[in-house]
Amino acid sequence: MKRSLTGIRASGELHIGNYLGTIREGLKLQEEYECLYFIADMHSLTTNKDPEALKKQSLDIVASWIALGLDTSKHLLYRQSDLPMVTEFAWYLSCVTGMGYLQKAHSYKDAVAKSKEVNHGVFAYPVLMAADILMYEPDVVPVGKDQKQHVEMARNMAGSFNTVYGEDLLKLPAPLINEDVMVIPGLDGQKMSKSYNNVIPLFSTEKHLRKKIMSITTDSTDMEAPKELKGSLIGDLYPHFASPSDVQTLSDKLAAGGYGWGHAKQDLFEAMNEHLKEARERYFELREDENKLNSILFEGKEKAWAIAAPILSAVRKAQGFL
Ligand code: ADP
Ligand code: TRP
Repeated sequence: MKRSLTGIRASGELHIGNYLGTIREGLKLQEEYECLYFIADMHSLTTNKDPEALKKQSLDIVASWIALGLDTSKHLLYRQSDLPMVTEFAWYLSCVTGMGYLQKAHSYKDAVAKSKEVNHGVFAYPVLMAADILMYEPDVVPVGKDQKQHVEMARNMAGSFNTVYGEDLLKLPAPLINEDVMVIPGLDGQKMSKSYNNVIPLFSTEKHLRKKIMSITTDSTDMEAPKELKGSLIGDLYPHFASPSDVQTLSDKLAAGGYGWGHAKQDLFEAMNEHLKEARERYFELREDENKLNSILFEGKEKAWAIAAPILSAVRKAQGFL
């Protein structure tokens, strides 16, 4: 069976962008692939330096994956930091990766451009991500479009490593991107992201969800005036939660005039709420049981270890370590 692998950083509340860009796509692969899902908590350290928040957010992610339908009896869910040899492997990859190449990473360039904290972790981020991937030999890596470059960098690092130490040592993975999903915009129209403070949370109370949706930026067209769904932020989000015929209905109502953005936001809220309601209930229930979440992580770690250990052993041997 082919293998898929993806990770999410524990660095804040999960949002609709994470869900549509990564989680939903990742879960769809369960029939066809052996799936590895992990919490990239070491990656979180570049920005998240609050130990309590890191612990809490890691468990939030575990509960979210399961509430949304991850079957841990067939697939793996683990925490990156539970397999610390990934940092050892990252070092090996560092030694075949040029500084100039890493300077081209969007994540690094973005941090420099926005005068964020640029620690060495930010610079080396793609190397640790390559180690995450290559240590488990996945065929595909489902990610949002913004992570495509990182997966390509992992492929290139595998290529460089193989050139030095032997062809076929590391398997080259492919990014898997659903082009329909693209980048999900946030409340203000920029990419939905924790760092921009513009997110619609994945699991919050109904009331909070509604409040967030009502705060989506729309133009100030008069309620009576005809409006276009396409090109609006509501139009970007609604089709992910409503059927094509419901999308057409909303589009017609707006085009006819007399239907305000407030009404459209209410429609979006209802569709989103309906879509997430059951999973949200499961999420809050699971989140109460931290022992269960920890035991799922323990099981995931054991299975992940069994996959990674022989791969790392071959890598060590190829480099001349006994
Ligand atoms: P954030 O930008 O909020 O910090 P992360 O970088 O932790 O989010 O992203 C986790 C995963 O969710 C990644 O695979 C990323 O591609 C995906 N993702 C995040 N934001 C979006 C978005 N706005 N649209 C589509 N996918 C997204
Ligand atoms: N860099 C990813 C993000 O910011 C998270 C991540 C870390 C990841 N390691 C990975 C994703 C390996 C896929 C595969 O969203």
